[in-house]
Amino acid sequence: MEKFKVGIAGLGVVGSGVVRNVRSQADLLASRSGCAFDITTIAVKDPSKSRDLDTTGIQIITDPLQIARDPEIQIVVELMGGTGLARELVCESLRNGKAVVTANKALLAECGEELLALAASSRKPLCFEASVAGGIPILKALREGLIANRILSLHGIINGTCNYILSQIAQTGASYADSLAEAQKLGFAEADPTLDVEGYDAMHKTIVLAALAYGFWIPQNLVRVEGISRLQNEDFSYAKMLGYTIKLLGTIRSHDDGAVEAHVSPTFIPRSHVLASVGGSFNALSVRGDVVGDTLYYGRGAGSNPTASAVISDMVEAALALSGGVALRPCATHSLYAKVRPFDETSSAYYTRLSVLDQPGTLAKISAVFAEHNIGISSVFQPKEHPGDFVSLILLSDRALERDYRGAIATIERLPVVSGSAAAVRVEEFES
Ligand code: HSE
Repeated sequence: MEKFKVGIAGLGVVGSGVVRNVRSQADLLASRSGCAFDITTIAVKDPSKSRDLDTTGIQIITDPLQIARDPEIQIVVELMGGTGLARELVCESLRNGKAVVTANKALLAECGEELLALAASSRKPLCFEASVAGGIPILKALREGLIANRILSLHGIINGTCNYILSQIAQTGASYADSLAEAQKLGFAEADPTLDVEGYDAMHKTIVLAALAYGFWIPQNLVRVEGISRLQNEDFSYAKMLGYTIKLLGTIRSHDDGAVEAHVSPTFIPRSHVLASVGGSFNALSVRGDVVGDTLYYGRGAGSNPTASAVISDMVEAALALSGGVALRPCATHSLYAKVRPFDETSSAYYTRLSVLDQPGTLAKISAVFAEHNIGISSVFQPKEHPGDFVSLILLSDRALERDYRGAIATIERLPVVSGSAAAVRVEEFES
């Protein structure tokens, strides 16, 4: 039995889960992997904070870099978050010959390339399964289970906070504000929910997924991000009437020219698609490979135990690599890829809701603009509303270039028969 000394930076929800589960699953881990873990040191911000965790025998310190410099420690687990001190800790640990496990997607999205290069030159593993979709082993699936595949597309519900809020609105008709408040009350959403609801957390995860799928790190400024805060309740009702539901999707897709698109967008998905039934704070990812076809991964994307499950699997992977096992390259480059398709040049079908003057000729004027931009309309729907000058008009378009669609919408919004701004949401049919 090989025993590995571990230092952990951060003892919040995830850190505590790791300590508890490393203890409770010790026999299982030992019999499956031949490894045992001795958590010797934990760095915390506030050592005086009372915690529901027995830390007897563990040295509690306040400077995480002390872990990186401790010659006894072989595996450093970074669970602090942030991109400043966390980056220093990861870099210094790798330079000092330690294996590193991190759950920090923001750090990876910002400096993944640099950190993996450092890990490669240090010949030490850098593992980050817990950075995406918590307990779902999606990175191992992409790297190992799907190694024989070129990834054609990946669609992920990868932010539990947003999925909880969207599910609440769709199921109960509650307002966005009330659904967010409920998510905060239940501990799914932070007091400042910006990172989640504006899509940045999903963007970080999308970048990590793209790195695994396509072998290069897409710069954050090339990933177009739209969150869920501007969706209106009526769009959920119209989505339902039309046979869809709205999900926040991280989407990556490869194209025949080798370019990769990556974005985070609220998206209409057919209610018949499996992702549509992923409710509450759950995460799920649908991955299409050229050999395997469609695959699906589902589970909890956050929380103490699910995230600890991923961290501990990385600790085992790190331990096996340290003891001379074969490690698959986490993010192998592939000559087919390495360029990003600008968002403007991606294509989608679109849902559009307009407020229009209720008079003959209005639809003709609007459809003429779509036609001028080479966009077909697949469906038009005018809900019965109280009679008035302006009424809602709902259109579903055929697949069109984002640039053409945005051009059409800008022109339509200037038509005298149209009032205010259009509501526009991408529609994903998951066709092959
Ligand atoms: N805040 C994230 C979510 C979990 O709501 O899914 C951690 O990435």
